[in-house]
Amino acid sequence: ALSSCDSEPGPVASRLIGPDAKEVRTAERLRRTSPQRVVARRITARPSAVDLGGRTVRTWTYDDALPGPELRTRAGDLLQVEVANDLPTETSVHWHGLALRNDMDGVPGLTQDPIVAGSRFVYEFTTADPGTYFFHPHTGVQLDRGLYGVLVVEDPAEPGGYDQEWVVVLDDWIDDTDRSPDDVYADLVSTPGMGHGGMMGAGMQSPLLGGAGDVDYPLHLINGRTARAPATLTGRPGQRARIRIVNAGSDTAFRVALGGHRMTVTHSDGFPVRPVATDALLIGMGERYDVIVDLADGAFPLVARAEGKAGAGMAVVRTGAGAAPSPGATLRELDRQVLLGTDLTAADSARLGSRDIDRDLDVVLGGGMMAYRWTINGAAYPDIDALAVAPGERVRLRLRNASMMFHPVHLHGHTFALAQGGTRKDTVVVRPRQSVEVDLQADNPGQWALHCHNAYHAEAGMMTVLSYR
Ligand code: C2O
Ligand code: CU
Repeated sequence: ALSSCDSEPGPVASRLIGPDAKEVRTAERLRRTSPQRVVARRITARPSAVDLGGRTVRTWTYDDALPGPELRTRAGDLLQVEVANDLPTETSVHWHGLALRNDMDGVPGLTQDPIVAGSRFVYEFTTADPGTYFFHPHTGVQLDRGLYGVLVVEDPAEPGGYDQEWVVVLDDWIDDTDRSPDDVYADLVSTPGMGHGGMMGAGMQSPLLGGAGDVDYPLHLINGRTARAPATLTGRPGQRARIRIVNAGSDTAFRVALGGHRMTVTHSDGFPVRPVATDALLIGMGERYDVIVDLADGAFPLVARAEGKAGAGMAVVRTGAGAAPSPGATLRELDRQVLLGTDLTAADSARLGSRDIDRDLDVVLGGGMMAYRWTINGAAYPDIDALAVAPGERVRLRLRNASMMFHPVHLHGHTFALAQGGTRKDTVVVRPRQSVEVDLQADNPGQWALHCHNAYHAEAGMMTVLSYR
């Protein structure tokens, strides 16, 4: 009962018939308990005007909203999303972080045909694993225009234990009425060494990440709002809040802290970690963290500072009376203890389980600003040699950053386990001149993108494919 492409029934349509192996297993497990619940939604990608807080910009969004609509399912539900493309160009939707069937992964040229302007496509897949995810186009640098939304897959088996649940989406924003992210990308390629506002990142460096980004963004958003007219999250003193934080930025890692509070990190990219308290978290593009906070009484700034760049986003957490924090609020918490994903340890329930490695694959991240070209294993997508694996193998990816800039490396269709600490993730920050090893179980056959989640790096070639034989 799948009707997926009312425009052109191309070669993709034939692949939509019948679920893949992983989905059959999930469906079988579910059939033993209850019939599969279906969550059906429709979203439209289109040009619109959005108010960032005192400033209205023309851009592209889902359903005229920034962030786009929030989707929610329970683990095991079938999600059915009809995407209408009212943009002047083709698009696609990738479901970031989900281990889903390959033909629904949303990568044009690899897993489907592009959704051409004026047409629609129905994505339909089982949301098997609970967690915090997001969705965005996998077409050019469209993500940077504001096409993104959050998908939460709830865990019916989870004890809960919190009173509020907030979703916080971070974004870096080019507010330049004449120039779109496509123009910025064209500039990067034609004038290597230059970021949006001048020399790369105004020459700034992060002690943690080195060269911090290629594009200078004048604005930073939390839930689509600048610090001048911030989004407000409300609760009551003494309540416990779960905050699901998503970095939807294209070129900015954010250092996040909540004034007057410590955060307890509970999940990384949707999977549980051993809870650990911290003052601040460093979140790369494409990463998600869930934290728990015990709310004090008052009004507190939730700040996302652009790592190694100028500027910060801010939202307000309000539980009582008190003056609103000022937009330029600097937080002591930001410069105390800061955690990265590689500092965490997997919860026992999230362990991959030890096994001998069947296959080692090198993934060398290279390139630079001088000729604006970013590579994996020396090659720029699509002129790449895919990384071949066989179903059932335990695979170790050796991610090695040979460049002077950090790269959040994202793998589609799987979560891997960090060899150090076991944390399950699908996006991991690899710092300049550093290596990270990750293990995965090759249990989801298909063609899966593996790329840097800096939208400009990926567009300039830093992408390859994990390919099942
Ligand atoms: Cu969110 Cu291939 O990426
Ligand atoms: Cu990169």
